[in-house]
Amino acid sequence: MSQQGTTEQRSLAHWAEDGRAGMEAFYALAIEDYRQMVAARDWAADLRGHAAEGRVRVLDVACGSGKFPAELTRRGLADAVGGTRVEIDLLDPSPFSIAEARSVLDAPFGVRAEHEARIQDLPTGVGGFDVAWATHALYAIPPDEIGAATARMVAALRPGGFGAIVHATAASHYLRFAGAFRTTFAPAAVPFTGAGQVREALASASVVPAVATLRYEVGHADRAVVEGFLQRCVFDDSVSLERMESEGAVGAYLAGCLDGDGYRFSQVVDVITWEVAA
Ligand SMILES: C[S@@+](CC[C@H](N)C(=O)[O-])C[C@H]1O[C@@H](n2cnc3c(N)ncnc32)[C@H](O)[C@@H]1O
Repeated sequence: MSQQGTTEQRSLAHWAEDGRAGMEAFYALAIEDYRQMVAARDWAADLRGHAAEGRVRVLDVACGSGKFPAELTRRGLADAVGGTRVEIDLLDPSPFSIAEARSVLDAPFGVRAEHEARIQDLPTGVGGFDVAWATHALYAIPPDEIGAATARMVAALRPGGFGAIVHATAASHYLRFAGAFRTTFAPAAVPFTGAGQVREALASASVVPAVATLRYEVGHADRAVVEGFLQRCVFDDSVSLERMESEGAVGAYLAGCLDGDGYRFSQVVDVITWEVAA
């Protein structure tokens, strides 16, 4: 799979059975994103605090393969929410992603509904959620559509609801690498959307969020794993690690990330949360 179509179309082509090997290489490093964000706040309190009549309804925007709810469960969410049922709606344009997410969900989660759609296209009748979250999810949405995407997510919450978007900033590996790759190998590609644009889009929807910034590193010594991770970062497996290392802005960026025989990449990630007025 190469640099064909828009970033959103290439994302969809990779979130498919054919892209499973790339997905697995990606999560050899990216699993740290989920460990960090789950440790970053008391998500059980967020869920309990927005529950009504013993249940909380959650919209998981761009659910991917369900790494976020799976990590919450692994870290003891079932005990932490007490008896609260967490009824989750899975939203993703990829049927592969929805099936993967469904297959990893465990108590306290129960699937309430599935929406095979882009968040921008979610029918207006779907709403009233207590909680909506999008975790490392909105990068492929074109910068000129992120306003519509976040506005739709905000509108899906009930009065008094809680929203969360966890998204890498322009200073993080995801955005820096995608920018360098675009300059060197894919000048026609639609740029990735960063946390700054998400925050501007929320401000345009009159949301005043709280923001906590996480800083951590991810790395691997195995070049094949690093190659798979980097290719998946840009949804393009046509350029080898060797070629990335030797050309233009990507080569210069990677030279700064060398760590012995392997690589370490710096992540700077915003945890953006807001409460809807009751
Ligand atoms: C990295 S995954 C998200 C990870 C996920 N939050 C988790 O917990 O594992 C990105 C997902 O975004 C989805 N996606 C791409 N464009 C989208 C859009 N416009 N609206 C909603 N989801 C989208 C992709 O299909 C993919 O499944």
